[in-house]
Amino acid sequence: MSASHTIRPITPAQVRLLRHALLRSFEPPSRIVYHGDDAPNTLHAGAFEGECLIGIASVCHEPMPDGREPASWRLRGMATVPSVRGAGHGRALLELCFDHIRAHGGRLLWCNARVVALGFYERLGFVAEGPEFDIDPIGPHYVMTRQL
Ligand SMILES: CC(C)(COP(=O)(O)OP(=O)(O)OC[C@H]1O[C@@H](n2cnc3c(N)ncnc32)[C@H](O)[C@@H]1OP(=O)(O)O)[C@@H](O)C(=O)NCCC(=O)NCCS
Repeated sequence: MSASHTIRPITPAQVRLLRHALLRSFEPPSRIVYHGDDAPNTLHAGAFEGECLIGIASVCHEPMPDGREPASWRLRGMATVPSVRGAGHGRALLELCFDHIRAHGGRLLWCNARVVALGFYERLGFVAEGPEFDIDPIGPHYVMTRQL
């Protein structure tokens, strides 16, 4: 990443525009509202090239469905624009998320990972758990976790 690239917190409204463009084009941005989006300790991280938003990731305090770790956080809406993929922006977004979670006493991060992104999450230290499952209309996913 060059000096013109930055990672910083953004608003829920900003994050929804890229969620729509990159992850959920079948829904308008105003409807892509996740549980926890407006919680005071939620982080919406944005990657910028100059003033252009090129990547997003959001983390909120949300226990895993099995309830094993109360200090667990959930990652949602992880994406970078196609023209910058492979350049380290996804990693940089997640590292800001890891720092934010640790600063709030979190010990585990989990997500429903699209199968096409498994290799990315593995590079960042996530481990897949349990069976593959389908989220309609997106496709196959695994639960992945990362200790912090
Ligand atoms: C998955 C995604 C966020 C990765 O973002 P990115 O900006 O390309 O990630 P980075 O460049 O920081 O990659 C970090 C590392 O993961 C690797 N990587 C990235 N995507 C990968 C993939 N799909 N499979 C295997 N490895 C991958 C990179 O090569 C890099 O490896 P390195 O540690 O050797 O340098 C991006 O490809 C994307 O937006 N995909 C479409 C949306 C999506 O599926 N999001 C996930 C929803 S669960």
